[in-house]
Amino acid sequence: MDHTIVIFGASGDLTSRKLIPALYNLMRSGSLPGLTRIIGYSRTPMSDDAWRASLRETTAKHAGGFDEAAWKTFAETVHYQPGDIGSAEDFAGLKQRLDSLEGGVESSRVYYLATAPQFYPPVVAALGSLGMADETAGPRRIVVEKPFGTDLATAEALNAQIHTVFRESQVYRIDHYLGKESVQNILALRFANTIFEPVWNRRYIDHVQITVAEEVPVGRRAAYYETSGVLRDMFQNHLLQLLMVSAMEAPSRFNARAVRNEKVKVLEAIRPLNPGDVATAGVRGQYRGYLAEPGVAPQSRTATFGAIRLEIDNWRWQGVPFYLRSGKAMSCRTTQIVIGFRQPPLELFSNGMRPGNREANRLVIQIQPAEGIQLHFHTKVPGAGMRLRMTDLEFSYSREFHGRLPEAYEPLLLDVMNGDASLFARSDEVEKSWEIIDPFVRAWSSAEMPPVDLYEPGDWGPRSSFDWMASQGRSWFDACPVLT
Ligand code: BG6
Repeated sequence: MDHTIVIFGASGDLTSRKLIPALYNLMRSGSLPGLTRIIGYSRTPMSDDAWRASLRETTAKHAGGFDEAAWKTFAETVHYQPGDIGSAEDFAGLKQRLDSLEGGVESSRVYYLATAPQFYPPVVAALGSLGMADETAGPRRIVVEKPFGTDLATAEALNAQIHTVFRESQVYRIDHYLGKESVQNILALRFANTIFEPVWNRRYIDHVQITVAEEVPVGRRAAYYETSGVLRDMFQNHLLQLLMVSAMEAPSRFNARAVRNEKVKVLEAIRPLNPGDVATAGVRGQYRGYLAEPGVAPQSRTATFGAIRLEIDNWRWQGVPFYLRSGKAMSCRTTQIVIGFRQPPLELFSNGMRPGNREANRLVIQIQPAEGIQLHFHTKVPGAGMRLRMTDLEFSYSREFHGRLPEAYEPLLLDVMNGDASLFARSDEVEKSWEIIDPFVRAWSSAEMPPVDLYEPGDWGPRSSFDWMASQGRSWFDACPVLT
């Protein structure tokens, strides 16, 4: 079957930095199924060739390797249709163009919403009014980027509006974190091996830390960031996705329904917080200098750093806190999941050390920048006496598998084309995520909250974040990438 990918928001950043380079790489590696054509739609008047020329520049920059001959072949499949999202006439022009490009041959269509979120409803409505979600001439799928709403109510409204035109099985809510190799590998680690599962629970695990630290500041994105802050930008989507894959039960089958059922169960088991408890279930921070970023309000209390604690009320995780933390302008770029194990029941080799003072075992799953896993365990230091030191066993993707790892968008785009929604968020998953994050958003923006804690760019967040962990008898695992 042929495939047509229609990109709304064709002249935007996402298209040039991520989508087109991903499609180009898929074509180069021979992974695109059948004949795949791409058609961009946006307001800028441009010819096919002008769009191709501008994409050539950006793809050469972002694709991680560029080959002129491959680009030429790829560019032939790329088309452009200028048009306004608000114009019924322009949309009819798009429909005609698609029909003519497809030439009556059965074709699957992917409608990719790479526009600003306020354009999602009008695009969906226009597709609906022209019958473009109808599947008699081949599958019709729609990809929706984040942000999917700004809270539970807006997410519900967006879901409802999309469902007036598309069935849930046609909707692919993308979270690029799920396309990262090492995130998918968590499923392999947990469910393709027997040695981890027996210890992957409250009997052996003390707590879990999920950190997405970014070195970059907010920079020029203040217009968006001021309304989003770290909770909406990172927690509702990426961090909760990492939590779900770390905490879910084994699905009965590896298919979209079973996988997503298990993920949603995790969210359902997260203990709802009383409004009064939200303030102590997390800490927020803002890097010094944020107020000077262009477009930031002079008194802005927007959190650029957040850490929250969630409890999962089920048999596996009862009593095991999940700490989620993310921030901009932090020490380094690293995304890691740290499984913190319990202390051994008996301290045999204390050497005068206070009980429980030795670091416990850890499994560090590093998602980026380098991908891999480290298991931290104690080893006897050679020589007299039982002196111990933390050592590690390490698995590194780059050492084990040579060559380029696919960018997150590559497998996800292929999945959409193949109709596999396992790695996409279902409507109930998105709504549940907002239900969990909304109370924090409300509490953190309430006038009763004390001023946001400041941290120096290059730190691991504000002092209060360390104190908060210490008050719970724990400490953050603050290591810049343990794997390089
Ligand atoms: C995006 C956020 O969803 O994810 C950005 O809007 C953030 O603020 C980015 O920088 C992080 O993605 P990655 O893949 O670089 O970790």
